[in-house]
Amino acid sequence: MSDTRALDLIAERIRAARAVTAMTGAGISAESGVPTFRGADGLWRNYSAADLATPEAFTRDPGLVWQWYRWRQGIIGRAQPNAGHRALARLQSRLAAFSLITQNVDGLHQRAGSSGVIELHGNIWRARCLRGCGYVEDGTGPGSSGEEDRVPVCPCGALLRPDVVWFGEALADDRIELAVQAARNCDVFLAVGTSSLVYPAAGLPLIAGRAGGVVVEVNLEDTPLTPHAGLVLRGRAAEVLPALESRL
Ligand code: OAD
Repeated sequence: MSDTRALDLIAERIRAARAVTAMTGAGISAESGVPTFRGADGLWRNYSAADLATPEAFTRDPGLVWQWYRWRQGIIGRAQPNAGHRALARLQSRLAAFSLITQNVDGLHQRAGSSGVIELHGNIWRARCLRGCGYVEDGTGPGSSGEEDRVPVCPCGALLRPDVVWFGEALADDRIELAVQAARNCDVFLAVGTSSLVYPAAGLPLIAGRAGGVVVEVNLEDTPLTPHAGLVLRGRAAEVLPALESRL
């Protein structure tokens, strides 16, 4: 099927839908200059995300892990939301029932104007108590140069950690419940820029499909989701999403 035909079909399904859900991954922020996790640019000093985004890595060397997050904060802070983020924000303002789930921790959807974003994996601009006293610090920034590996301390005396989900950790119950509901209740589910390898996020489009929703994949390449997607749009999110939104 040509891309134009697929775009027309998806636009038709969206117009007829009672509810639409979109879930994004690192691919949507790639064109804003934020490195994806599994792309060639995902390495920092030869460390991959899987080496650093774990509780074990933080226990071993919290300064190194903070240094990596401050490097990512620096990139994200300089990045601007792109046409893909903005198209999803416009979609939300035009549809009566629209849910946006993201695996990204960069906050670019909110900066593009989206509200009520379900952030499955947390947010890089927040830090929280490692011991779990309940303290959360909002707006942690990259800090001044020379202190990149400083480990912030909680008022309770424990270390602060980035408020993001690490490999091997469970997602917050309330967030995953909201996401499952949004998947189950939608007529169209857009899976945008995700490798569909990391669960439970990767299971959400499958839930939508089993509940009768049409699953649309927007990605540069095939993923494990592709065989389960009813419609596939191959291309950059920053081009495909505005093209779709303009057809509504
Ligand atoms: P990945 O880096 O695994 O995958 C990015 C996907 O985006 C790939 O499938 C690319 O083909 C696609 N892509 C790249 N550029 C694109 C573009 N311009 N337009 C459309 N698609 C594009 O990122 P995620 O799937 O988000 O978790 O990774 C999932 C999770 O793994 C992350 O949230 C993170 C990581 O471990 C945690 O930190 C808990």
